[in-house]
Amino acid sequence: MSREVTGIGLGLRYDLATELLTRRPATVSWLEVHPENYVNRGGRYQEMLELGRRDWPVVTHGLTTCLGSVEPFDVGYLANLRAFLSDLEVPWHSEHLCLGGVDDRFFHDLLPLPFTEEAARIASQRLTEVRDAIDMPLAVENASYYAAQCDDGLAEADFVVEVLERADAKLLLDVNNIYVNSRNFDFDPKAYIDKIPPERVVQIHVAGHFVRDDGLRIDTHGEPVPDHVYQLLDYTLGKIGPVPVLLERDNNVPPLDELLAEIDELWTIYRNATEVDRAG
Ligand SMILES: [Fe+2]
Repeated sequence: MSREVTGIGLGLRYDLATELLTRRPATVSWLEVHPENYVNRGGRYQEMLELGRRDWPVVTHGLTTCLGSVEPFDVGYLANLRAFLSDLEVPWHSEHLCLGGVDDRFFHDLLPLPFTEEAARIASQRLTEVRDAIDMPLAVENASYYAAQCDDGLAEADFVVEVLERADAKLLLDVNNIYVNSRNFDFDPKAYIDKIPPERVVQIHVAGHFVRDDGLRIDTHGEPVPDHVYQLLDYTLGKIGPVPVLLERDNNVPPLDELLAEIDELWTIYRNATEVDRAG
């Protein structure tokens, strides 16, 4: 029986764990973990997870079971993942809508898919395959990308919706990724949000990103959340209601107090969205 996940969460990252687990701030409502750090492993990560679970519900977010690849899944890993998720009592698990490797090579990067009907069909079939293997709700996360798409493909939002509807799946909506893509490829991020079926969104990610001298935005998770991403979150929550929001920070991790200030800002936006939802 999973515990309710609501409000603002924070990733249980190694660099933060000692301070987070010691201070246990009340404004952090839930934790997100990457199962690759725990499945078939023990040691410090496992200890961190046990300490975190005492006070917080946990959600899992995978890094290696990329739904757009065409390589067969590691069925042994998926079986162990299923056992891990069941023990952890998570309400859903998420993976990325991307390509992770080819020809038995894994790139440890989230490579983009072509936004075509064929890629949507393959990704939706693989999503169903993973969901059956882990036997629990599976959400797919929209990714950032840096290579231009071919002209005859779908718009990114239409591609994401196509995958969701083919697989009857849930969405982990990363508003920073949408913002980064919208600036790099010149589209309206609010029009993207407008196309997303609200009932499919179970979780949101927000993060900061790096802006190169030439203007290209890189999804680093290594900077504070910028105002434009806060504003897009505000718009998103206003459209879909108070879905749980995770602050992602994986690089250049600052002292916890700096992240708690960002979490306070996220709570302000989240509560406003809750009020809007109640009023509506
Ligand atoms: Fe994300």
